[in-house]
Amino acid sequence: MHNFEYRQGEFYCEQVPVSRIAKEVGTPCYVYSHATLIRHFHAYDGAFKNIPHIVAFAMKANSNLAVLRVMAKEGSGVDIVSGGELFRALKAGVPPSKIVFAGVGKDAGEIADALKADILMFNVESSAEIRAINDVAASVGKKARIALRINPDVDPKTHPYISTGMKKSKFGIAADRALEEYKMAASLSHIEVVGVHAHIGSQLTEVTPFVDSLKKVVGLIGTLKAQGINIQYLNIGGGLGITYSEEKPPLPQDLSDAISPIVAHLGLTLVMEPGRVIVGNAGILVTKALYLKEGEAKNFVIVDAAMNDLLRPSLYGAYHEIKPVNEEAGHRAKQQVDIVGPVCESGDFLAKDRLLAAVKPGELMAVMSAGAYGFVMASNYNSRPRIPEVLVQGEDIHVIRERETYEDLVKGEMIPAFLK
Ligand code: LLP
Repeated sequence: MHNFEYRQGEFYCEQVPVSRIAKEVGTPCYVYSHATLIRHFHAYDGAFKNIPHIVAFAMKANSNLAVLRVMAKEGSGVDIVSGGELFRALKAGVPPSKIVFAGVGKDAGEIADALKADILMFNVESSAEIRAINDVAASVGKKARIALRINPDVDPKTHPYISTGMKKSKFGIAADRALEEYKMAASLSHIEVVGVHAHIGSQLTEVTPFVDSLKKVVGLIGTLKAQGINIQYLNIGGGLGITYSEEKPPLPQDLSDAISPIVAHLGLTLVMEPGRVIVGNAGILVTKALYLKEGEAKNFVIVDAAMNDLLRPSLYGAYHEIKPVNEEAGHRAKQQVDIVGPVCESGDFLAKDRLLAAVKPGELMAVMSAGAYGFVMASNYNSRPRIPEVLVQGEDIHVIRERETYEDLVKGEMIPAFLK
């Protein structure tokens, strides 16, 4: 459920016509709904109300400060993957006691910063990283709380680029090596072992892979207990999918119903890292048709947004629904088109071979489900300034990130003296 819909022939975000946003901030732009963000957070958080838990929003999905502030105000923590994300989270007011830090390549500076901020725990991905964290913790005079990220070798049945819990993946520690690594970690003076973490992939549309993974992890928790290693937190990662097209992913409540019988009796605090399911359908990308082009083999609608603004179609072949902002336009005869951007790459498209009601130059379109992994994956390729982000709350439009200027494009660049 989201707050983007047609009303009296116009596409709205909450109480605001999208055309008004386009007029005020220009196109392309990202638009997020405050009401949807909150509803999605509480759908997830509320589904687990019977088990002690922390929702740590996976901020890699959308790390705008205002979005993080919304999450923090609702009681969310965050899952971070870099020093930059730690910086943003603290700036947005996320309590360090609800921050967990994942990622295969944390460097010493990032580890030290997280220790100084006193985050809840590190999700550790390798033997070498356990030792590195111990060394940094010793140097800053702290004890690091850690969970080991276990690779349960479960097929999440999603796109290979976003599968992370299989043997061939770079993520996590193999389940059969886990006990050995836990013992080693527990023996280190500046490490406190507190948790087990498992994240198997993203955009999962079934609960079975979650259940299979958790069964393996719960077995491990029993073994650890028998060895005197007392686990307090079980982190089930993120990964719940959303509807981009025809998918019928489980609801957070379905996930909770499926896993509660496996985890409720353990007396642990659950940590969860949902990203896409919170923000994905809370955001759209608004773009304007520039030109129509009839090719020899194909027809193209050339729009002002491109792969540098929304990379998912180019990178994963991802499907994003595209709706006309003027509802009337949606009733025109349909044509098969590619929706492409101005970037000089054949791979620059927002939709391929899409049957779409005829579009006219100057018309606005909404690229749906763009709130997760949208702006955060944007780049300046082709020296295109990154586009604004707007948060709608009721009748109000709040610009939460300005459109970049040409000066922003060259910020930090220098022409050395010998070239002057
Ligand atoms: N926890 C960990 C350890 C993760 O690696 C991820 C996502 C999440 C949580 C959040 O997963 P979510 O709930 O959002 O599915 N750029 C790709 C998605 C990459 C996901 C990376 N890890 C895309 O656009 O589909």
